[in-house]
Amino acid sequence: MTTYTASAPGKLMLFGEHAVVYGRPCLVTTVGLYVSATVTPTQTSAVTITTPALRARGEVHTVALADLGRQLQPETAFVEAIAARALQLAEQPHGLRIDTDGPQLSYGLGSSSAVTVATAAALNAAIGLALSQRALFDLAYSAVLDAQGKGSGFDVAAAIYGGTLWFETGGTAIEPVDAPELPFRIGYSGAKVSTRRFVDGVEQLRERNPLIVERIFDTIGGIVVQARTALEQGDWGKLGDLMDLNQGLLDALGVNTPALAQLIFATRNAGALGAKLSGAGGGDCMVALALDEQRTPIDGAIRQAGTLVELPLGVPGVRVTVR
Ligand code: MEV
Repeated sequence: MTTYTASAPGKLMLFGEHAVVYGRPCLVTTVGLYVSATVTPTQTSAVTITTPALRARGEVHTVALADLGRQLQPETAFVEAIAARALQLAEQPHGLRIDTDGPQLSYGLGSSSAVTVATAAALNAAIGLALSQRALFDLAYSAVLDAQGKGSGFDVAAAIYGGTLWFETGGTAIEPVDAPELPFRIGYSGAKVSTRRFVDGVEQLRERNPLIVERIFDTIGGIVVQARTALEQGDWGKLGDLMDLNQGLLDALGVNTPALAQLIFATRNAGALGAKLSGAGGGDCMVALALDEQRTPIDGAIRQAGTLVELPLGVPGVRVTVR
């Protein structure tokens, strides 16, 4: 029986988180943390899903085609949502088995969006949808919204297109950024939290203080414009300043934590040209700009204040293999 396996990378937000939910741009790169989905067409009228956690418990999750997408189960929500969206585009119903796999890590480096994209790409091949990259983005992004309600879609774009991207809300713009060098080190602050909670927190802050928060978003948008040029030109002094400025504004949005701040100050003290949190905040990861000569002390500072996450950056987007 033919199987279709796709693997998709995770992401690292470089600049522009939160503001990108409100129409401003961001810069994102991929990380070599791959999640895979294998789709096998079956002669049933159901979709059967397994994940590493379900397999560890000897369980499978089966949804009748007629019920698919109606009530998403928390553990398999993203896979169910993309299967439902993809099957809506198919000319005929398809029974399917979908097995997802990937490292079971606590870092918030985009595993939900990567699993959605991997499943989307494998389904695209398995049921012959022949979607373009752009159509695949639109499909996977709608599934992510079905499963999590909110999000700019930058993580979906990263998993599909790969490399380093300039991204605008909902994929209004998705452009490759020519960034041959990505001298960043990632630190994990040890406490992953729900992205949704912090996106909601920023929304409430904006409701209470609309003028000020909109100005902060505008300023972050301006930082992202300059950061793209600095990244393309390898102007590391400038890029470091922009990271620190972006961090100050994220702090103003209330998404910093003492553990993240400790990592940020420790890496700056160890010689990082700039450092900021990456993603929704409230814990999770930060990123430091570390040129070769400062890399060892910066890595040491990250290990002391948290966990060093060593992954290749700017890796290619989703790939499908057929067996
Ligand atoms: C979360 O990693 C980044 C946010 O900007 C949310 C989003 O863009 O979907 C906070």
